[in-house]
Amino acid sequence: MSYQTILVEQRGAVTLVTLNRPQALNALNSQVLSELLEAMAAFDKDPTQGCAVITGSEKAFAAGADIKEMQAQGFADMYGHDFFAGWDAFTRTRKPVIAAVAGYALGGGCELAMMCDFILAADSAKFGQPEIKLAVSPGMGGSQRLARAVGKAKAMEMCLTGRMIDAAEAERAGLVARIVPAAELVEDAVETAATIAGMAPLAVLASKEMVNAAFETNLAQGVQFERRLFHALFGTADQKEGMAAFVEKRPGAWSGK
Ligand code: CAA
Repeated sequence: MSYQTILVEQRGAVTLVTLNRPQALNALNSQVLSELLEAMAAFDKDPTQGCAVITGSEKAFAAGADIKEMQAQGFADMYGHDFFAGWDAFTRTRKPVIAAVAGYALGGGCELAMMCDFILAADSAKFGQPEIKLAVSPGMGGSQRLARAVGKAKAMEMCLTGRMIDAAEAERAGLVARIVPAAELVEDAVETAATIAGMAPLAVLASKEMVNAAFETNLAQGVQFERRLFHALFGTADQKEGMAAFVEKRPGAWSGK
């Protein structure tokens, strides 16, 4: 499949997607959205692929939704077409997706990173929700996901002032899983993704689903949901294999069943 705004390559069981609109600092326009959705659907369906990495350039993961595409739109266009609703499909990707962020992750760029399952940040990364400076607001889930990730105080400050935070502050606040030297970001992310892709596939899907449930349910429901999925994994051949492999002191060989 050839795309104009993203590059997609398979590195073993890892799908590496690189946002590729350098002239616009990877601003997310409708074409990026439709190409990304197509790539993620293909990734999710491909049994040889276990984990994806989304990255940008050294300068920008993505500098936001495309301001030039939105500039002339009115309320009827935005509301009538439910602008940005297409991004919901991205969050329905069942296999894990890691955001590898270097440089700017602003507005929709920060929101896309937060739609991924976790963020690995280069030491050069800068996160922000500067939409307020354009007299608008986050629109791709940023106010909700940022508040859940870093708490009300910092999310409110970032959304109301547009202040950017650097990688160190993002890590302290719990927005990113880990900081990596910029030169090693993509290799580290691909290696991390390969580790995940090397796990039993059904356990991976279940683990992603249950962590996500923590943001959609109350504690008792979430714990029950986790327990039911845990029980269900005992119906898989890979659970027998995984526990036998531990006892026999050898690596597990997964069937995905
Ligand atoms: N949309 C469209 N084009 C963008 C863009 C965006 N979000 N961000 C950068 N660009 C374009 C610039 O217009 C410029 O294009 P031209 O060369 O044709 O003028 C090119 O990318 C390079 O950008 P700069 O010259 O501005 O680069 P810089 O290094 O001086 O500054 C920056 C970098 C601080 C990131 C600056 O580009 C910037 O502030 N960008 C906008 C950030 C922003 O406001 N993001 C939020 C967008 S709204 C949104 O995302 C809504 C939502 O909730 C989903």
